[in-house]
Amino acid sequence: MRIILIGAPASGKGTQAKLISEKYNIPKISTGDILRENIQINNEIGKKIRNILKNGELVSNEIVCELIKKRIQKKDCINGFLLDGFPRTKKQAEYIFNLRIKIDYILEFIVPHQLILKRICGRRVHIPSGRIYNIHYNPPIEEGKDDITKEKLQIREDDKNDIVKKRLENYEENIYSLTQYISKKKNIKYFRINGKESILNIYKKIETLLNKE
Ligand code: AP5
Ligand code: MG
Repeated sequence: MRIILIGAPASGKGTQAKLISEKYNIPKISTGDILRENIQINNEIGKKIRNILKNGELVSNEIVCELIKKRIQKKDCINGFLLDGFPRTKKQAEYIFNLRIKIDYILEFIVPHQLILKRICGRRVHIPSGRIYNIHYNPPIEEGKDDITKEKLQIREDDKNDIVKKRLENYEENIYSLTQYISKKKNIKYFRINGKESILNIYKKIETLLNKE
């Protein structure tokens, strides 16, 4: 099963990606997580990427396409994968479809901006694992600590108000041409998901969609 998740910042891609990947035993591949891992390494490329993310800009199509190509060639993708946050431009979509990899599902999360801002304020993350929490909606067992490692949770550097605004602008700029392009592709099941509901309700709906088809 090969799935693509599309959605604005904080629309719930990473949260649902974790649940889907555990249930269907396919790796969750988040370009955001891979880029943040590179930042942790703190080499020249890491520093460049950090600046781009910190300013809410998009990393170049060339860099993310190359990262994805390498990642999906790994052994664990043999039975499928789930892409979280890739493609996010029409160019990236053209790239993945030109690789002639059959994509089965595209799930697009629809969430109003107001709710996005509220969710972002409460987000806390464990960067090394990509685990995501929310102080209002999905708190960790122990305040401020990752459930598994008990390491300190962080606020993402790009979750500041003005940067979120920039990220949303980037999203709006690209989403129309991206969805126009992918919705015309044949033999892909494309669903728009109401992302306003609870984490569990959204997950149950996704599960029903994936089991039904
Ligand atoms: P990335 O990390 O992918 O950021 P994003 O797309 O902005 O999305 P987020 O991770 O912010 O949100 P999400 O949809 O995963 O929501 P989450 O589940 O965390 O990318 C970061 C940056 O990397 C980009 O800005 C860009 O610079 C670069 N980049 C990445 N991919 C790229 C690409 N393909 N091309 C170029 N550049 C790229 O949920 C948010 C919060 O809400 C959490 O706290 C969660 O607990 C909570 N929550 C989730 N669902 C619900 C719910 N249903 N109800 C209540 N709370 C909820
Ligand atoms: Mg995410």
